[in-house]
Amino acid sequence: MKVDEIMDVALRRGFIFPASEIYGGVSGFWEYGNLGTLMKRKWEDAWRHHFLSLDQNYYEISTSNIMPEAVFKGSGHLEHFNDPLTACTKCNQRFRADDLITDACGKNAEDMTTEEMELAINEENIKCPRCGGDLGPVQLFNMMFCLDIGAAGGTKGYLRPETAQGAFISFKRMFEVLRNRLPIGIGIVGRVYRNEISPRQGFFRLREFNQAELQIFFDPDTFDEHTSFDDVSGTPLRVRPLDRDEEVEMTAGDFRDTYGIGRFYVYHMVKIQEFYLDVLKVPRDKFRFRELSERERAFYNKVHWDIEVDMETLGGYKEVAGIHYRTSHDLSGHQEMSKQKMQVNIDGKKFVPHVLELSFGVDRNFWALLDLAFAKEEERTVFRFPPRMAPITVAVFPLLNKQPLIEKATEIYSQLASIMQTDYDRGGSIGRRYRRQDEIGTPFCVTVDFDTLEDGTVTLRDRDSMEQKRVGENALLGEILSRVAQ
Ligand code: GLY
Repeated sequence: MKVDEIMDVALRRGFIFPASEIYGGVSGFWEYGNLGTLMKRKWEDAWRHHFLSLDQNYYEISTSNIMPEAVFKGSGHLEHFNDPLTACTKCNQRFRADDLITDACGKNAEDMTTEEMELAINEENIKCPRCGGDLGPVQLFNMMFCLDIGAAGGTKGYLRPETAQGAFISFKRMFEVLRNRLPIGIGIVGRVYRNEISPRQGFFRLREFNQAELQIFFDPDTFDEHTSFDDVSGTPLRVRPLDRDEEVEMTAGDFRDTYGIGRFYVYHMVKIQEFYLDVLKVPRDKFRFRELSERERAFYNKVHWDIEVDMETLGGYKEVAGIHYRTSHDLSGHQEMSKQKMQVNIDGKKFVPHVLELSFGVDRNFWALLDLAFAKEEERTVFRFPPRMAPITVAVFPLLNKQPLIEKATEIYSQLASIMQTDYDRGGSIGRRYRRQDEIGTPFCVTVDFDTLEDGTVTLRDRDSMEQKRVGENALLGEILSRVAQ
């Protein structure tokens, strides 16, 4: 199966591996190896570059992973951030009730109430998948990891379940720092924690994972305005609204008119689609926005579309990001809990800003890159990553283990390595060295041979076409940079 083939390369070549592996690992925890870390950083940098440049007032900050209980009372997570749990009455194994129902009868149970789930479990006669015992009642289980702050255990804290709260509780200060204007965007890239009941889907549903989120604070009266909307209104968006059975394409302008969603929201949908299609090079027919029903939506969202990518390893479209209209839910909650004013005063107009959230699961996006890029060909295994995302951009080889070739190749390696991620390999035949780089998705290989010493040209080999071209040493860097930028 493709998932096993990808996992084999990922483990063997240092993309990802299970955490605490020598102790048997713990479900839902994975780590990045050397190549995985390089690629994750490239994805995060591409995200920063794309989204933080959408407005002069969008910036990244870095906030705490541990926060006191009051934060999550204010945000509503303590009360609402729950998953449905059922336990076997015989072996006591715990399960996510909605997953069991979906597995047993294919129904999407995500938007069922706990009563409806109990009914479905009875009607479908669903038993414990481990021992066949009867399942107990369906209860709500809070997914946050709880901990004590300090030796006396006096203050209860939680590991953040989303980066977003860091932006909300920093809003007051950042609004002043950014000179009391709106909109402002506060981005956070970092780790978050969710105590999933029984994480499945390997690397895709994790208990500790990475998010890249941008919270955009704006005046709610301007939800249907964006100064650059006219520039994007003709862009076709690929959407799957609740009232359609399949993806449809409609221009951003028509989408806004048909579904009555504000221009500010739709403008950011266009920019998200651009990120996926133009930067990450996701094929258009494997990308869509999916509208969530009221019951499926997170408790804090008024408008909620998921961004989904069609992945063979996961059996179809899966969520990799979301665009959420959170209204003033969070700022108002924190205002009430902290007694600090979140209201702003802009030209005499007083209001609590509303928030548009762009939320991305970094690890899911990482997996999507692996899934979409992987190919097993007759002669080789290859990841066809977009060159910007490949962990190693270029590999340099001396054709033979001869001193003058090694010296020249080392010189070229050093020049390239100061600009881009570069590998150097002098072990084995050239064919084997190409295969090793193909397997980790390196888009370009440079070979130094005896002609190089004569005429200053090297062989530049392209991963996808496997074509080789002679390029002058002086033109090499420019040629690679222009191909990376395509
Ligand atoms: N901040 C939104 C989410 O975690 O899904």
